[in-house]
Amino acid sequence: MEKRRKIILDCDPGHDDAIAILLAGQIRYFDLLAITTCAGNQTIDKTSRNAFNVARYLGFGCPIAKGATLPLVQELTTCPSVHGESGLDGFDFPNYKYDFSPLNGADLIIKTLLDNEDVTVVTTGPMTNLALALRLEPKIKEHIREVIFMGGTTDYGNVSPAAEFNILVDPEACYIVLHSGLKVKMVGLNVTRKALVNKEIIAKVRAIGNTASRMVGDLLDVFLENQIKTFGIKEAPLHDPVTIASMIDESCVTFKPYNVDVDISHGPSYGRTNVDMFDYLKQEKNCFVAIDIDSEKFWNVVLDGIKEFN
Ligand code: RIB
Ligand code: CA
Repeated sequence: MEKRRKIILDCDPGHDDAIAILLAGQIRYFDLLAITTCAGNQTIDKTSRNAFNVARYLGFGCPIAKGATLPLVQELTTCPSVHGESGLDGFDFPNYKYDFSPLNGADLIIKTLLDNEDVTVVTTGPMTNLALALRLEPKIKEHIREVIFMGGTTDYGNVSPAAEFNILVDPEACYIVLHSGLKVKMVGLNVTRKALVNKEIIAKVRAIGNTASRMVGDLLDVFLENQIKTFGIKEAPLHDPVTIASMIDESCVTFKPYNVDVDISHGPSYGRTNVDMFDYLKQEKNCFVAIDIDSEKFWNVVLDGIKEFN
């Protein structure tokens, strides 16, 4: 059994980010060194408050830092249709004292990495903070084991025909990460669309009957309802936890190396991740791309993670 992996989670809670936080905080698998937040699903103040609420409700005491208020180049696009005005509609958290780190997100990433070795950086929102950290202090690369990001896709987008939300909010940040020379793993819509929340899954969550399951059950009810109303679908993809689940049970997600680039021209495919599945370009295979998921194993990881809080 590998020793506990050191991780930093950068996120934009967001309902699916909240479940990623839950999985990332499991002390039997991970040493969650820090949580940093970015603007994405909602504005930075809302995503930061949401991250703080979830982490503290679950008893995670790691430092939490607010990150960039805007993407590197673009104006911010949020996603209230899925996550609500608060960014995490559906559960009333206690009133915490919001003692965020005095550092901003990029600086907390830098400090945490320089103080540690062999750290996995997981991003489940736009990659603005990680990109800024890499530009501010390139030496952090020596401290990163790998980057695992939820974003992009090998097929069609979810906020434009070409692009997935996290990448389209900040394509230039994704470009910096993909061209960083780091080991990068991409968990895109092509697999996360198979991690589907439905009423049966929510019933299994609620049957666990602990503090975590009450929070997750209430949040997933709203997450599912919003997507039924917005997209007319019957099941909702729970994107972000797939990143963490892929580390807990490596057989849950299959990765293959490809050349991946992101379109930062300002045409109709802006923000698209171009995965060279047939190696047309004969370029460096700079990214391990998730190409399949065992959905049953994924849900077992999520349910087992919730049971940890008994
Ligand atoms: O496209 C899905 C991604 O966008 C997820 O990370 C979700 O939380 C939103 O940020
Ligand atoms: Ca997210």
